[in-house]
Amino acid sequence: MEKAIGVFDSGLGGLTAVKELSELMPNENIIYLGDTARVPYGSRSPETLVRFAKQDLEFFFEQNVKAVLVACGTISTVALPVLKEMCPVFIEGVVSPAAKKAAEVTKNGKVAVIATNAAINSGEYGKELRAINSDLSVIEKACPMFVPIVENGYFGKNDPVAKLIVEDYLSEIKSSGADTLILGCTHYPILRPAIEEFLGPDITLVDSGKEAAKEVCRYIKESKQENESGAGGNVYYVTDEPSGFIPLAELFLNKKIGEVKKVSLGDDN
Ligand code: DGL
Repeated sequence: MEKAIGVFDSGLGGLTAVKELSELMPNENIIYLGDTARVPYGSRSPETLVRFAKQDLEFFFEQNVKAVLVACGTISTVALPVLKEMCPVFIEGVVSPAAKKAAEVTKNGKVAVIATNAAINSGEYGKELRAINSDLSVIEKACPMFVPIVENGYFGKNDPVAKLIVEDYLSEIKSSGADTLILGCTHYPILRPAIEEFLGPDITLVDSGKEAAKEVCRYIKESKQENESGAGGNVYYVTDEPSGFIPLAELFLNKKIGEVKKVSLGDDN
């Protein structure tokens, strides 16, 4: 089999990047890892996150992948430099691609970022945006309830739970004057219908997983590593019982995903 692209996250969020990668490069094989035994990542300390991130990445070494997409804003903000040092193949996180896109699309220079507690506390999105353009004004907000509501399936456009929490977290963003909002945690685009409905058409949403997927696609094409052997296939792994993951993944991806295998990454899962 041709080499695959490895994509990982704590749970369902990284599927937002998988969806984009599959659309951009339907011939590629993707191996997805959701660390569902330890989701959510966003409330953890940087030390714990670095440990989890190393174990996630090591899983892909055994799979002999040709590139790795860290489809997790939390890990991308706190552990990417460590992962880059360890990784023998191309590795991309979501922060830099999302920041680049936001800096490109904003018209009034006011960019808002929503992400997990750990990602916002790291300040990495703000740093990356200001490094691209020091005149940008950045508003950052943690939305810690978004991941649990997604992982529990409350993500339909008219879902009353999603609506209530979106309104509570995003009122401040709506009135801030920002014309661009980075969905800095890959779970958040799954709530896009509710977020769009609340914010209206005047704020452009930047999907961090999607932007990172475009970057990986660019690398695969430029380095001439495209899979030439026909239609690609995806394989999914999780670290906890797969029965909770499968229906929600299929609901979001709008297709059957086949068998999902359970793997163990470390002593604590
Ligand atoms: N989807 C991940 C992120 O982008 C992880 C969120 C979590 O597990 O808290 O941050």
